[in-house]
Amino acid sequence: MKELQITTNLQVFESLNELPKPVRELMQAASEARQKAYAPYSSFSVGAAILLDNGEIITGSNQENASFPSGLCAERTAIYYAGAKYPNRIMKTMAIIAGSQNHKTITPIPPCGACRQAIAEYEIKQAQPIELYFMGEEGEIIKSNSLANLLPLLFDKNVL
Ligand code: THU
Repeated sequence: MKELQITTNLQVFESLNELPKPVRELMQAASEARQKAYAPYSSFSVGAAILLDNGEIITGSNQENASFPSGLCAERTAIYYAGAKYPNRIMKTMAIIAGSQNHKTITPIPPCGACRQAIAEYEIKQAQPIELYFMGEEGEIIKSNSLANLLPLLFDKNVL
């Protein structure tokens, strides 16, 4: 038996002011998308914005359903739309902002496991990393240079 140790490197920014301007603008787009979330059941709204290599920004928000599992997270709403509309574009960066409507969310909210798997698919498809920035309504922002940092030992198409 041998031990396998997995380490991840992330960067933590203290506030939006510390981010490069294009990323700040992307987070602003995510924040505007978050206002359009449909989250009557969880009261937790999430916005995501994806910057493509042609400079276009694709956004999404979480969309819930009375049949709970039929709802969809903001990240997957955005990434599936980007994949459907621009199948040949490279996705450079994704910004995510999330928070409860019942209390202030000041810790960074990372994408859920299912969204990580979905983002991983496109990262592998385009053979280029997707940078991720995620935050709560305010406070610190966490950056990952690649989705792979957030999903070690990921399941990918090469094993099929
Ligand atoms: N949600 C997202 O939009 N993204 C995530 O990565 C985690 C959770 C949404 C799904 C649901 O509408 C609400 O947040 C509470 O789970």
